[in-house]
Amino acid sequence: LKPSAIRALFAVAARPEVVSLAGGMPYVTALNMDDFANTIADMIRKDGDVALQYGSGQGHPVLREYIREVMAPVGVACEIDDILVTAGSQMALDLIVRLLVDPDDVVLVESPSYVGALGVFTSYQADVRHVEMSEGALDPDSLISAIESAIAAGKRPKFIYTVASFQNPGGTTATQSRREQILEIAQRYGVLILEDDPYGLLGFGDYGTTKIPQAIRAMSQDVIYLGSFSKTIASGVRIGWAVVPAFLREKLVLAAESATLCPSHFTQFAVMAYLENHDWRAQINTYRALYQERRDAMISAMQTHMPNGISWTVPAGGFYSWLTLPEGLDSQDLLPKAVDNLVAFVPGSGFFVDGQGASNLRLSYCYPTAERITEGIVRLAEVIRAEI
Ligand SMILES: Cc1ncc(COP(=O)(O)O)c(C=O)c1O
Repeated sequence: LKPSAIRALFAVAARPEVVSLAGGMPYVTALNMDDFANTIADMIRKDGDVALQYGSGQGHPVLREYIREVMAPVGVACEIDDILVTAGSQMALDLIVRLLVDPDDVVLVESPSYVGALGVFTSYQADVRHVEMSEGALDPDSLISAIESAIAAGKRPKFIYTVASFQNPGGTTATQSRREQILEIAQRYGVLILEDDPYGLLGFGDYGTTKIPQAIRAMSQDVIYLGSFSKTIASGVRIGWAVVPAFLREKLVLAAESATLCPSHFTQFAVMAYLENHDWRAQINTYRALYQERRDAMISAMQTHMPNGISWTVPAGGFYSWLTLPEGLDSQDLLPKAVDNLVAFVPGSGFFVDGQGASNLRLSYCYPTAERITEGIVRLAEVIRAEI
């Protein structure tokens, strides 16, 4: 277990004078707090004796029905028995890895990959291998050679971990044809896919309406799929879920029960009451519009202020853009200078287990206002220019 780069940064980035483009905190301020408070108060009056009691280890069946509805736009269809409710999708990740991975087992991940998942994989002593990306997704040839070289060494990979939609930290999204290729390769070699999809409903423009990326799980029930209310409602409720193939279901529920007995019954009831009494689709649209405005502010500030030789991804949804510095600059070295200039980011090396990422940084636009984002980019551009 090692502290993550993001964790170490939180204390510094929390100083009000620092524009933090570091943490990926959802902008929960956009919720109607009075309405949510009233809903929760009513729920306690009506159902408090149950909501404040222990519940089912698999999660409340009514909530699992709602989760089916929430997943419909990304094409995931399943029975409520296939769903396990967890304390955020992070807990589902931990339980799945606990069940599937022994020390030295090979796990294939994207380049870069979500730091919280890398932390889980390494804590169970997995042999984590990055696969090259192309066009914002796992590169098919690189994926095949990573699988074949692991198999040749007698270590068939346990799974491929992917955030195919609005990736953290890359801000990239796999095309439908690339999703099909990745699934075909996984099936051909008998390797599971672990698909993590907390941002799937947070696409901008068409990507949130007519072109919502369809989950890989929509094409195969063998895919393990993770979802979360952290970004569509609020991260503080700590409610996520896993949709699991039949062979894993019973063991996963047992593992969940041994970890926490049951997911928080209280916040499950809060989420159920919210979904029942609020127009949650409208709230997701509010979040989408807000994040799109902030994405636009960040991209246009970078276009105006960044020196030549810097490139970045333009995300079609989610929270992050991934910036690449010119050869020879190191984002770890840049960070203290940036913080001196009152702006924070996450160095790219945190999103790799093998020392890559020195010339990258993750910028998040989810939390600061558009004005603050612009100010933050101006400050960051000054630091990069001086460094060049
Ligand atoms: C890709 C990815 N997976 C999982 C999580 C964890 O989400 P949750 O709050 O549901 O545990 C995050 C949170 O930032 C994430 O970006």
